[in-house]
Amino acid sequence: MNEALRHIGMIMDGNGRWAKQRDQPRTSGHRAGVDAAREVALHANALGLRAMTLYAFSSDNWRRPPLEVNGIFGLVDQFFDNDLEPLDRAGIRLNIVGRRDRLRRTTLRAIERCEERTRDNDRMLLRVAVDYSARDAIVLAAIELAGRNIDRDGFDRTLKA
Ligand code: FPP
Repeated sequence: MNEALRHIGMIMDGNGRWAKQRDQPRTSGHRAGVDAAREVALHANALGLRAMTLYAFSSDNWRRPPLEVNGIFGLVDQFFDNDLEPLDRAGIRLNIVGRRDRLRRTTLRAIERCEERTRDNDRMLLRVAVDYSARDAIVLAAIELAGRNIDRDGFDRTLKA
């Protein structure tokens, strides 16, 4: 293992093609994708990596047909709930990034429970991006910074009430 390799990122892709090649519905491809992602996380952890970021559902993915989005979120809920056991047992802490205001209640609850359950795990951090968009993240950071008085040395001079 290369000591310099500490953090890897993984983007879910090819689930649909995987299913098509096997004459299976897209949902089977998504299921297989989730299983593969979990295996990669377990291997990364076993190899001693400190962090992995899994880009699971981008904000653009809301444009997919509602039936597919529904199926995907069934898998998301399952991943953070029933499927969590091996990750938790391996000492992996989960942290979910992205917008939470558009997630359904079951997903929100599953995310909160999963973060709470794995909070003290300290082997590897698995950051999962759900309803995440890099553009949104930059825009939000810019909006936040615009409301602050940052001086030329980078110090925040915003008056606190
Ligand atoms: C890309 O495959 C995959 C997605 C757009 C989303 C898949 C997300 C999930 C299954 C949820 C995963 C959640 C967790 C928490 C791990 P594609 O359909 O674009 O495949 P294609 O490029 O072959 O059509």
